Amino acid sequence: MKSEMYTPGYTNNATNFMARRGLESHGQFFAPFLSARHTVLDLGCGPGTISVDIARLVVPGKVTGIDFNESQIVQARKHAGEAGVSNVDFQIASCYELPFAQQSFDRIFCHALMEHLADPVKALRESFRVLQPDGMIGLCSPDAEGWLLSPPSSELEAAVAAYADLQQANGGNLRIGKNLGVLLQDAGFTVIRLAARYECYPSLEFIGEYLALQLEQQGASRHATTLREWAKDANGMFAQAWVSAVAGKSL
Ligand SMILES: C[S@@+](CC[C@H](N)C(=O)[O-])C[C@H]1O[C@@H](n2cnc3c(N)ncnc32)[C@H](O)[C@@H]1O
Repeated sequence: MKSEMYTPGYTNNATNFMARRGLESHGQFFAPFLSARHTVLDLGCGPGTISVDIARLVVPGKVTGIDFNESQIVQARKHAGEAGVSNVDFQIASCYELPFAQQSFDRIFCHALMEHLADPVKALRESFRVLQPDGMIGLCSPDAEGWLLSPPSSELEAAVAAYADLQQANGGNLRIGKNLGVLLQDAGFTVIRLAARYECYPSLEFIGEYLALQLEQQGASRHATTLREWAKDANGMFAQAWVSAVAGKSL
């Protein structure tokens, strides 16, 4: 397997960026497949805000969120405690080696993880193992080929291309969204539904600083400056292209 490093890291900026997500804003594509009493695995749960929303929906079922980073698990447990949601637990684990018996879950949810993996099919095969025979999986990942950015400039194009290249060098693939169906099929799943949507970020500063910080940490300060200058334009736009896929094990 190629080497793999998680590009966004765990700064407050990156964690807060994820923590604003919920099932309604980012997981709607999978909500019709979730019911009371389901046991659900949330792969790469990060700060756990989507996991907690899923737990509210499946009560008295149970959600297990896994993430290989301890700080995210600590934050997720804190969030669940503050939200008063008790049918969710969080564990440190790798998506390549899940600490669960085969056929443990009715549903698997996975938001914004596949694009960080060097071997997404290996992770999906492991998901296949722990999913019930009649279970379903829902994935969602971005695709940088669908990004809409304004106001345009060659410097801005170079900065976002550098960001995608950085993620690629770290083993990931920011252009993975369109391939989710193929990857699921390669792992043995039967794809039921593929869809795409746009998320317009609340401000250019919000997305610009998130990308700029990561480029800066890698020494690409020229691109970071471009993003920060671009983010000052009150009338600009960054629309993120999200692709979602729902698949079953035995259809
Ligand atoms: C972009 S965040 C997404 C968090 C959350 N699912 C969301 O959409 O807000 C990806 C998360 O996956 C975790 N992660 C990355 N690679 C992983 C791996 N190989 N196994 C388990 N977790 C991983 C990271 O630590 C990070 O918290």
